[in-house]
Amino acid sequence: MGDARTVLVTGGHGEIGGAIVRRFEAAGDRVIAPTSAELDLSDPAAIAAWFAREAPAVGALVHCAGLNRPAPFEQIDEALFARTLSVNALAFVDLARRCAPSLRAQRGSVVAVSSLYGFVARRGRLAYVMAKHALVGAVKTLALELGDDGVRVNSVSPGFIDTRMTRQNNSPEVIRGFEQRVPLGRLGRPDEIAEAVYFLSTPAAGFINGHDLVADGGYSIGGFQTP
Ligand SMILES: NC(=O)c1ccc[n+]([C@@H]2O[C@H](COP(=O)([O-])OP(=O)(O)OC[C@H]3O[C@@H](n4cnc5c(N)ncnc54)[C@H](OP(=O)(O)O)[C@@H]3O)[C@@H](O)[C@H]2O)c1
Repeated sequence: MGDARTVLVTGGHGEIGGAIVRRFEAAGDRVIAPTSAELDLSDPAAIAAWFAREAPAVGALVHCAGLNRPAPFEQIDEALFARTLSVNALAFVDLARRCAPSLRAQRGSVVAVSSLYGFVARRGRLAYVMAKHALVGAVKTLALELGDDGVRVNSVSPGFIDTRMTRQNNSPEVIRGFEQRVPLGRLGRPDEIAEAVYFLSTPAAGFINGHDLVADGGYSIGGFQTP
C-alpha cells in the first residue's frame, strides 16, 4: 500500500514489536528497529547520539517499546519509576521531535502502542498507568501540532495479548479470568496489534488523527464486567 517508507520501530525486538516489524516489512517498507542496547530509550543522551549517528529520514514512526514492572506504589523503586516513564512516554516525545522534520517533509505518520492502562488504572501498576496516560496525552497533543503539516499521530491500545509481558505480570488464574471476561473469549495475538498499527500508519487511515484504537476483543466496552 503506497510507496515504501523508512519506518523507525522502537521495541521492535519484543513480541508485539517483532510482529509490527514483520508487518511493515511484508508491505515492502524499510524498517529500522534498534535493540535497547543500540538505542536505550531511558537515556536522553543515548537517543541524541543515536540520531546524530544514524540521521534516519523517517516516514513513519512506531513507538512500541514499553516497560511494566508491577509494584505497590509505596514500594516502587525510584530508578525503575523514572525508567518506566522515560521508556513508555518521555522517549516518545523525544523521538517525535527528532523525526518531525522528515515526517513533515514526507507527510508521514506516527503510531504509539499504549494500553488499556492509558485510560484506566490498575492496582500495583502506578508507574505504567502514569506512563501510558502520559503517552496518550502526548499523542493527542502531537496530533494537533504535527497535524498542521499533514502528519497524523495515533495510538493503539492493546488489551491482554498472549505475550511474555502478560504471563510475567499475571498469574495463570488471572489470565483465565481475562479470557472469561473478554467477549471474544481469548487473549489477543501480537499480529492482531501489528495489523492495527500498520493500518493507522497508512493512507487508508488518512482522516484518522489523534485517535486511540482499542484492540482488546471488547474487554473494556462492557465496563470490564464478568460475562
Ligand atoms: N503484552 C500485552 O498484553 C500488552 C498489552 C498492552 C500494551 N502492551 C504494550 O505493547 C508494547 C510491547 O509489549 P510486549 O508485550 O511486546 O513486551 P516486550 O516483548 O517486553 O517488548 C518490550 C520492548 O520494549 C523494549 N524496551 C524496554 N526497555 C527499553 C529501553 N530502555 N530502551 C529501548 N527499548 C526498550 C524491549 O527491548 P529489550 O527486550 O531489548 O529490553 C522490548 O523490545 C509495550 O509498549 C507494552 O506496554 C502490551
